Amino acid sequence: MTKPRQYHITTFGCQMNKADSERMAGILEDMGYLFTEDPYNADLVLYNTCTIRDNAEQKVYSYLGRQAKRKQTKPDLTLIVAGCVAQQEGESLLRRVPELDLIMGPQHANRLQELLEQVDAGNQIVATEPIHIVEDITKPRRDSTVTAWVNVIYGCNEHCTYCVVPGVRGTEQSRYPEAIRAEMEDLARQGFKEVTLLGQNIDAYGRDLPGTTPEGRNLYTLTDLLYYVHDVEGIERIRFATSHPRYFTERLIKACKDLPKVCEHFHIPFQSGDNEVLKAMRRGYTHEKYRRIINMIREYMPDASISADAIVAFPGETEEQFENTLKLVDEIGFDQLNTAAYSPRPGTPAATWDNQLSEEVKGDRLQRLNHLVSQKAAERSQRYAGRIEEVLVEDQNPKNPSQVMGRTRGNRLTFFTGDINELKGKTVAVKITEVRPFSLTGEPIEALVTV
Ligand code: SAH
Ligand code: SF4
Ligand code: F3S
Repeated sequence: MTKPRQYHITTFGCQMNKADSERMAGILEDMGYLFTEDPYNADLVLYNTCTIRDNAEQKVYSYLGRQAKRKQTKPDLTLIVAGCVAQQEGESLLRRVPELDLIMGPQHANRLQELLEQVDAGNQIVATEPIHIVEDITKPRRDSTVTAWVNVIYGCNEHCTYCVVPGVRGTEQSRYPEAIRAEMEDLARQGFKEVTLLGQNIDAYGRDLPGTTPEGRNLYTLTDLLYYVHDVEGIERIRFATSHPRYFTERLIKACKDLPKVCEHFHIPFQSGDNEVLKAMRRGYTHEKYRRIINMIREYMPDASISADAIVAFPGETEEQFENTLKLVDEIGFDQLNTAAYSPRPGTPAATWDNQLSEEVKGDRLQRLNHLVSQKAAERSQRYAGRIEEVLVEDQNPKNPSQVMGRTRGNRLTFFTGDINELKGKTVAVKITEVRPFSLTGEPIEALVTV
């Protein structure tokens, strides 16, 4: 008997890539491959890549260099680049790393088996043409047994002037609610408790699907989808990301308040607190509109947690405009904020402008914003002190095996003493005894442990 071939996948980038990797791992296992943690011991290595900023892209090249060398002494090594760098660079990756067997864009993730068969027939394959994403029939190999991603809309039709995503992920394609619900029912049968519905611009869900209501609305919207899937038995929590302020609606906020399983956490990137910068980014809203959305959420759900993304040092951003971002962050008080210095990306309009800012300005602004963010997050964390929070236990604390970790409904990472074998997948009432800017520690209140 021949030894089964081993595969390794390293994933960079966002939740979409993580979800794609889980599906590709499922396909490989279906084909008889076995997983290995060690990329330098595997017979098939797949890098699922991200190109959102230059440093994300550069990481891949250093990994690839080492694997290309390995292939010289191990000719049966299959080397794959998937994801957004693959889509962005296509053929030119082959020139850079001729040892590659397969270059496949994100839209081709579900076709991995068919593409590998072509590789095994002796071909070097570049699969980056835009295609309609086929519903996937293979079971993903999920990283967690408690929480799962479920794609609801692929691609993005926005034109933010800094962003590569529409170029690499293609045009919007929503899945039908029936397929989404069926996947969630299947997850529930397998024992999963939490689902995060995914889309780069999840508020666009349904606008590419046919049909309108008598009032002229799209027949399918994210709000309707939440009502349609919320009663899947066994799924206890539903989250969704990423929201776009341009399309965010009061109907959606009401649904989140009405539906007990939908967690009170909103991830709504604002990118900049300055209207001129927002306009140059082509975001389609003002900071006033953004503030109205947050106020509305807080009217319905005063304790909702709010996270976001922001970019500093966008081309032409003045000190005063940057201070408007600081002001917004100071006034809103985010629970968490992902910050980044602007990185010019190939094929995007802003990369060609001649008002780029220096590395020095980028570093300085990023540091000032990050400082404010941790200060505000620490303040926001204080409200948890002494409170009882529902924590869905996901795993052992890797730094302290006598503790388990999970998340509150507001998505705060929480640690408490307990046995993972007993508590994994359980929702436990935890009294918070210690607060840090981005995580909490507490004590379980045994009487309130739910099944
Ligand atoms: N669809 C989401 C975000 C997708 S990309 C949205 O519309 O907000 C994730 C984050 O990366 C973005 O929110 C943005 O803050 C950041 N980002 C995207 N392109 C970038 C660039 N060229 N330079 C720096 N940060 C960028
Ligand atoms: Fe990029 Fe804008 Fe689409 Fe988000 S909405 S993925 S930032 S183009
Ligand atoms: Fe990166 Fe692609 Fe996601 S560029 S952020 S992995 S959509």
